[in-house]
Amino acid sequence: MTKVAIIGSGPCGLSMLRAFQQAEVKGKKIPEITCYEKQDTWGGLWNYNWRTGTDQYGDTVHNSMYRYLWSNGPKECLEFADYSFDEHFGKPIPSFPPREVLRDYILGRVERSDVKKYVKFNTTVEYVEASGEGFNLMARNKKNNTYENNYFDKVIVANGHFSVPFVPEYEGMDSFPGRIMHSHDFRDAEEFRDKNVVILGSSYSAEDVSLQCYKYGAKTVTIGYRNNPMGFNWPEGMKEVHYLDRIDGNKALFKDGTVQEMDVLILCSGYLHHFPFLEEDLKLKTHNRLYPPSLYKGVVWENNNNLFYLGMQDQFHTFNMFDAQAWFVRDVILNKINLPSSEKISQDIDKWVKREESLEDPYQMIDFQTDYCVDLVKDTDYPKIDFELIKKHFYDWEHDKEDNILTYRDKSFSSPVTGSVGPSHHTTWLKAMDDSMKTYLSTK
Ligand SMILES: Cc1cc2nc3c(=O)[nH]c(=O)nc-3n(C[C@H](O)[C@H](O)[C@H](O)COP(=O)(O)OP(=O)(O)OC[C@H]3O[C@@H](n4cnc5c(N)ncnc54)[C@H](O)[C@@H]3O)c2cc1C
Ligand SMILES: NC(=O)c1ccc[n+]([C@@H]2O[C@H](COP(=O)([O-])OP(=O)(O)OC[C@H]3O[C@@H](n4cnc5c(N)ncnc54)[C@H](OP(=O)(O)O)[C@@H]3O)[C@@H](O)[C@H]2O)c1
Repeated sequence: MTKVAIIGSGPCGLSMLRAFQQAEVKGKKIPEITCYEKQDTWGGLWNYNWRTGTDQYGDTVHNSMYRYLWSNGPKECLEFADYSFDEHFGKPIPSFPPREVLRDYILGRVERSDVKKYVKFNTTVEYVEASGEGFNLMARNKKNNTYENNYFDKVIVANGHFSVPFVPEYEGMDSFPGRIMHSHDFRDAEEFRDKNVVILGSSYSAEDVSLQCYKYGAKTVTIGYRNNPMGFNWPEGMKEVHYLDRIDGNKALFKDGTVQEMDVLILCSGYLHHFPFLEEDLKLKTHNRLYPPSLYKGVVWENNNNLFYLGMQDQFHTFNMFDAQAWFVRDVILNKINLPSSEKISQDIDKWVKREESLEDPYQMIDFQTDYCVDLVKDTDYPKIDFELIKKHFYDWEHDKEDNILTYRDKSFSSPVTGSVGPSHHTTWLKAMDDSMKTYLSTK
C-alpha cells in the first residue's frame, strides 16, 4: 500500500487529512497515512503558547500568535466549502473573530472526521532524504527522546512558513538599553502600556502589532517602513516614518530625519521559509511571495513529483486555498489527476511566476490568488464555493482598511457557502479588550 507522510498538523496538514478522509467516505481506497506533529496538539499557529524560544524538550517554539489576535481578514473569505461557520457555531457569527474562535472552527471539522488517529504528536521530523522512488524519514519523539526511521512513497511538507523569524541587525542594537524582539516572540500588548514603541516593517505584522500596542495603551507607536509605507490614516500617537538608520542610546534615528525615543523595538521583519529537516535537493528556496517557483500548481515539487508542499505562498486566501491544494495533491496521489510532462510542468510554473511578477497592487494580487484557487479546484471534487464573492469581499476589505484602519474589523460580510451575513459584534474591535470565545460569542 502507498505510504504517505504529512509533516505538520496546522491548517494545511488538517486540510490534507480531511481531503483523504472525504475520499474514503466516498468509497475510495486511501493510502497509509502518518502525520507528524511536533506540538502536543494540532491547529498549528492557531495554538497560543506563552512560551518563546525553546519548549520543555529543547525544540523551537512554533507559535507566532499572540493574545488579543483577531482575524485580519473577513472569516467569510477563508470559510471551508464543506463545513460552514453556521454549521460549526449553530448560528451566524460576526465577520472578524479572535484567534480562539477561529481555532475552534478549524478543529471542529477534523474532530468530527476521525482523523486524529493518523497524527503522531510531540514528534518532530528531523530528516528526509530521497531514496529510490520514495523517501527515508527520521523523526524524534520528544517526550521519550526516541527516534524512528520510516520509508514513505510520498511526503507532504506542511510545516508552515511563519515561524522562523528573519532578524535584521542595525547599528546601536548592542548598546540599546531597552527590549528588542521579533514579532514571533510578541505575546501580549499590555506589556507595552505607557511605553514608546518602535516597530519595523510594513506588512501585516507591523500593522497589527502596532495597532495592538496602540489599543492597549502604548505612549507612542512609530513604524519604520523600508520600501513602501502602509499609508493608513493612523490615529494620534501613531506615525509611519522611513527606515531605521541606526540606534543611539535609547533613540531611534530614521533615514527621513525623525528621531524617536524608544523603550522597545519590535522587528516585524517577516519569516524565513525554513526546512532544516529536508535534504538540500528537496528544499524549497524562496522569499514570501504569491507563487514560489519550482512548485507545479503551487504544490508539486518540480524535481521530484513524489514530494509536495502545502501553503508555501504568501496568503490572501487561506483555509479554503489550503483545502484546494490538499484536494489537488490527494488526487495526484490517488492517480485521479495525471501530471503532465516535465516540459509542460515547467511552462505552467513559468506562466504563473511571470504573471505574479507583473502584479502592481493588492487588487491584482487578490485576482491572481483567486484565479489560482479556481484553477486548482476545477480538477477536483472540492465542494462548490463562490470564489468570485470571496474576491469581492477582499476588495471591500481593502477599501475598508484604507477608509479607517481602526474600524475595518467592525464590518460584516456574507458567507460564500451559506449566504448568511455576519451580524455586528456587540463591541467594536477597538473597545473589545477581552478576546475570549465566551465573551465573543455572547450576545450581551
Ligand atoms: C501572527 C500571525 C497571524 C496570522 N493571522 C491570520 C489570520 O488572521 N487569518 C488567516 O487566515 N491567516 C493568518 N495567519 C496565517 C497562517 O499562516 C495560516 O492561517 C495558517 O496557520 C497556515 O497553516 P500551515 O499549516 O501552513 O502552517 P502552521 O499553522 O504554521 O502549522 C504548521 C505545523 O507544522 C508543525 N511542524 C513544523 N515543523 C515540524 C517538524 N519538523 N515536524 C513536525 N511538525 C512540524 C508545527 O508545529 C505546526 O503545527 C497568521 C500568521 C501569523 C504568523
Ligand atoms: N491576524 C492578524 O491580525 C495578523 C497579524 C500579524 C500577522 N499576520 C499574518 O502573518 C503573516 C506574516 O506577516 P508578516 O508581516 O510577519 O510578514 P511579511 O508579510 O512577509 O512581511 C515582512 C515585512 O518585513 C519587512 N522587512 C524585512 N526586512 C526588514 C528590515 N530590515 N527593515 C524593515 N522592514 C523589513 C518587509 O518590508 P519590505 O516590504 O520593505 O520588504 C515586510 O514589510 C501574514 O500572513 C499575515 O497575514 C496576521
